[in-house]
Amino acid sequence: MKKTTLALAAALLLPLMAHAQDAQIDRKVAALMKQMTVAEKVGQLHQLSGRLFTGPTSSDYAAKLADIRLGKVGSMLNIKGVADTREIQALALQSRLHIPLLFGQDVIHGYHTVFPVPLGESASWDMEAIEQSAHIAAREAAAAGIHWTFAPMVDIARDPRWGRVMEGAGEDTFLGSAIARARVHGFQGKQLGATDSVMATAKHFAAYGAAVAGRDYNAVDMSNQQLFEVYLPPFKAALDAGAATFMNSFNTLNGIPATGNLFLQRDILKGSWNFKGFVVSDWGSVREMVPHGYAADLADASVKAINAGSDMDMESYAHIKHLEDAVKSGKVKMKTLDDAVYRILYKKFELGLFDDPYRYSVAAREKAVLADPSHRAAALDVAQKSLVLLKNAAKTLPLSRAAQKIAVIGPLADAKRDLEGGWVVEGDRAPVVSILEGIRSHAGKAEVSYAEACGAGCTGTEGFDDAVAAATRADVVVLVVGETWDLSGEAKSRTDITLPGHQEQLFAALKATGKPVVVVMLAGRPLVFNTIADQADAIVYAWFPGSEGGNAVANVLFGDYNPSGKLPITFPRSVGQIPLSYAQYSTGRPVTDEKNVVYKSAYIDSVNTPRYAFGHGLSYTDFKYSGLTISSKAMAPSQQVTLSFDLANTGKAEGTEIVQLYLRDLVASVVRPVKELKGFQKVHLLPGEQRRVSFTIDRELLSFFNSQLVWGAEAGDFKLMVGSASDDIRLEGAVTLLPSK
Ligand code: BGC
Repeated sequence: MKKTTLALAAALLLPLMAHAQDAQIDRKVAALMKQMTVAEKVGQLHQLSGRLFTGPTSSDYAAKLADIRLGKVGSMLNIKGVADTREIQALALQSRLHIPLLFGQDVIHGYHTVFPVPLGESASWDMEAIEQSAHIAAREAAAAGIHWTFAPMVDIARDPRWGRVMEGAGEDTFLGSAIARARVHGFQGKQLGATDSVMATAKHFAAYGAAVAGRDYNAVDMSNQQLFEVYLPPFKAALDAGAATFMNSFNTLNGIPATGNLFLQRDILKGSWNFKGFVVSDWGSVREMVPHGYAADLADASVKAINAGSDMDMESYAHIKHLEDAVKSGKVKMKTLDDAVYRILYKKFELGLFDDPYRYSVAAREKAVLADPSHRAAALDVAQKSLVLLKNAAKTLPLSRAAQKIAVIGPLADAKRDLEGGWVVEGDRAPVVSILEGIRSHAGKAEVSYAEACGAGCTGTEGFDDAVAAATRADVVVLVVGETWDLSGEAKSRTDITLPGHQEQLFAALKATGKPVVVVMLAGRPLVFNTIADQADAIVYAWFPGSEGGNAVANVLFGDYNPSGKLPITFPRSVGQIPLSYAQYSTGRPVTDEKNVVYKSAYIDSVNTPRYAFGHGLSYTDFKYSGLTISSKAMAPSQQVTLSFDLANTGKAEGTEIVQLYLRDLVASVVRPVKELKGFQKVHLLPGEQRRVSFTIDRELLSFFNSQLVWGAEAGDFKLMVGSASDDIRLEGAVTLLPSK
């Protein structure tokens, strides 16, 4: 009884305490700001890159250190490790008001221990594993003196030419929003300021993923409906999960650079969404408003950025050079400057940096945390979950460990750096297990041989003979091909997303031996590989799986882990189909029969369907969907219905199915996509086991933005679809939303 009363009292007090703490920080920030000169305020908005890019040998290095001592720098990026962060922080503390620096870093998918690239992790559809991965990345980074990560990237991306699809959660808004939440929770932990967490950044605000023609930094032009419905929700989800900061983006949106975009930053983010954190510009994006043709010069860019709601200037030197004058001349109001400074100082207080500016930079913790063996185990777990079995003809996989000969072939078979993917920042990272090493250590009685053939980008046939000879001697071939790590990520747009070099030719030569060929593919984006898709016996899409990649792939190849990953992005057949998403519109001339497409919305040289659809991914077992029920045929706007069905594991292996719920609003005031993901669950079943799975459908799930950009659901009929992939719907039902009374 006593306990209950206490718990209740504590629960009631909590919001009050949180409020009190806010008020306390508020007072502290206000007191500090009273002492600050305009120049010192401007300094807080200046973010500088550290040694990685400038280096002690660069000519202005000494000047930069002097600026830090003078309080002209508010934050640094690319300074990491306890020793360096302590050294630089000490300089900032020599400034008149002793305001500590914030250290930011692109901790995108791990720090010391490298996890799969974000797109790969997203294929796990596993929110706990994704949160855990972000949390470990944060724990390691925070132990190395870092306060703040420039992640998660929550840009929806439907164009695999864009190299940065690798950094996000793929094409879908519903899945992307769930992943945005999981990543923010993972990075930030329970409370900002805990030294096993870092501040998260939802980036790049906004619509960067829709760059025209998939060319990085290119313009974006889209309807507000698309913006609100497809591109903004993951940002809102990140904000609701508590994201401390946002980063704006390089692109223009409907003619206005995101960095100078009042509508995005003031009206939406800080206005209707009531965001209390701060916005950092993207690298040099304030300055880039000049070549965009939106600002006359750097001074003008500074004014336009801050007035539009962009608070901190990353590496444009716009504010530090010009903002003081702009405030004096009245182009920027003191109130605007104060608001930006307030937001940044607030976070510094919240992180506890004024109490102890070195609290993240403790050598003993750095050593212990970076050596924590549980981090590798977590990296293996999420890497396994991220692998997608695209094809498994005649049950070629799993491989047997009995006495047989396995030829491991290919340019990426023994690669290590490529398994890590882009955006790895620590120099001294956890060792990587190559796929060859993984296969060797898991092979049991099987005999493993290896031939590299020739490099991933090679356009000759050197080494093909040796590879063919190895295949001829073997019972089965595992061919490891793909993109090298440096072909995806920022500034890595490609017009041709086929396998680089002669890798498909290598496949054809090996296939010609008549031996079964299992292809393991590494990449940071969907690739086009039609010969392999048609002829390989099995295909495992491994993305860039991280430090434990080799063990994860081996576990899947030998069946120690039954693959469960599902594609978070559509795989086209050709670049000509891009952009391609399962959530497309019907058109007035939809294709109902691929053999009869005359005067239909179709191509004369390709089918419309993708090579592999969103949500696709096979298992070593089979799942049967049956017995769909919907609790009611119709629902009033205030009601809910429950959709249920039986999922059975009818195969011989235990396995996990990611069941997917899609819906279509059949007739609406604005046409709706033919399918929209509205729910998913990961269900683990033993052989022969069956479980009833349920989804709740409410008005919110049926809602969309109408032509007036008002969010709501319209009365009418909705088709409900449940399946194993967006193109593998197993059960269908319907519900009618009744008009409001
Ligand atoms: C990227 C950002 C990144 C920043 C700092 C920019 O070029 O677009 O995503 O956080 O650099 O490294």
